[in-house]
Amino acid sequence: MMMYTYFGDAPEVILLAALSLPIMLIFVGPFARMARRRSQASRASGAATTANIEEGMSNVLAVQSLGGNEREGQRFRKASEESFRRFRIESLLKLTYQQFGSLAFLLSQVLFFVVIAGRVIDGTFTAGDYFVLNYYFFVLSATFSGMGFIYPVLQDNVAGLRRVFFLMDLPSEKTGEGIELPRISRGVEMRNVGLTYPDGRRALSDINLDARLGKIVAFVGPTGAGKTSLAYMVPAFVQPTEGTVTIDGVDLKDVSVDSLRDQVSYVFQETQLFSDSILENIRYGNADATEEEVERAARVAGAHDFIAALPDGYRTNLGTVTSKLSVGQKQRIAIARGLLRDARILILDEPTSALDPETEAYLVDALHEAAKDRLVIIIAHRLSTIANADRIYFLEDGQIREQGTHEELMAVPDGRYRRYASLQAGAG
Ligand SMILES: Nc1ncnc2c1ncn2[C@@H]1O[C@H](COP(=O)(O)OP(=O)(O)OP(=O)(O)O)[C@@H](O)[C@H]1O
Ligand SMILES: [Mg+2]
Repeated sequence: MMMYTYFGDAPEVILLAALSLPIMLIFVGPFARMARRRSQASRASGAATTANIEEGMSNVLAVQSLGGNEREGQRFRKASEESFRRFRIESLLKLTYQQFGSLAFLLSQVLFFVVIAGRVIDGTFTAGDYFVLNYYFFVLSATFSGMGFIYPVLQDNVAGLRRVFFLMDLPSEKTGEGIELPRISRGVEMRNVGLTYPDGRRALSDINLDARLGKIVAFVGPTGAGKTSLAYMVPAFVQPTEGTVTIDGVDLKDVSVDSLRDQVSYVFQETQLFSDSILENIRYGNADATEEEVERAARVAGAHDFIAALPDGYRTNLGTVTSKLSVGQKQRIAIARGLLRDARILILDEPTSALDPETEAYLVDALHEAAKDRLVIIIAHRLSTIANADRIYFLEDGQIREQGTHEELMAVPDGRYRRYASLQAGAG
């Protein structure tokens, strides 16, 4: 503006200053795409390195006990070398376009000199004007060049943004869509269900099953038989690749996942606790539960006594003590959480494996109590947990081989369940 007022008869000065923006863009523009790509690659491998450390750390016992220290070390070295290499390329690129940027800046100054010096010589400006103009030009063109320079820097950050959007764009479950499942009143039905995992591994075939509310149903069988896979179909953690799973006659394919999972409580085979207080951990699936309700659930799960014995009781933060709790104690907290959810279908995947007989008996009683108006699905190895189930499904190689009550299955002369049970009895 000032330049325009004083040197209105030399608009080319402003024009020249403005020109340094396109000049800059021409020089650093081609680098912008490269900068984005490099930065993306560099960030991705940085993340891979971090994930690598995290994985090694959280499995540190397994790593140490399996003699994997050296291998983990190598894995880490490789990942960080890769990350460093990419970072170096990125830095080199940055240096290069910074140099090109300075070159562009110099070039616009040369242009200015040539034009204005010409005007001084032909007498439009005095020599004094030149220095004033030169100063203004310098300030203006520095600003414009700076604007040109923002572009690659922006691209660098676009790379960061893309990684964020990449996560956000991962296919999400259509949780809200589909038919709202009404309050479950009858039960689960599976017809000719088969399941092949995406990696091509066949987990289940030809499953026909009927599980009604008010019953306890047990899945039994050797490891890898498909018990967990079968149970995962009820809350639609996995979808069958053949056949249909229906609840109260509604195909789960058409049901809104939210309305389904609201009514199904799943206690996982591997206990998952959060670094929060025990209270909040139990309350996780049912945020409205009062402390009395939490305590009642904990008592049923056999967790109350050891929780009460902790210095901070239910306020104990698991972030700092998970390693001080035994597997069985963690499992009991997870069971309490499952019970507290008060869902129509309660699924427990090997809940009693780390419980002592007394706690187990107590829990089994509680499950029978809970089953009065619910469906309880229990996966277990221990006979004492399953013997009283209303129906036992014996699985092997992804198929239901036998089904019935404990007595019925024990009566089969050469039955698989009978053999399995006698092995158990022998071991116990
Ligand atoms: N996410 C998965 N991807 C591919 N294959 C899987 C996956 N989960 C399980 N499997 C395979 O499916 C089969 C059944 O596994 P599943 O976990 O259902 O067995 P399980 O009866 O629960 O065993 P366990 O008693 O050891 O818990 C196994 O052969 C297993 O390797
Ligand atoms: Mg399992």
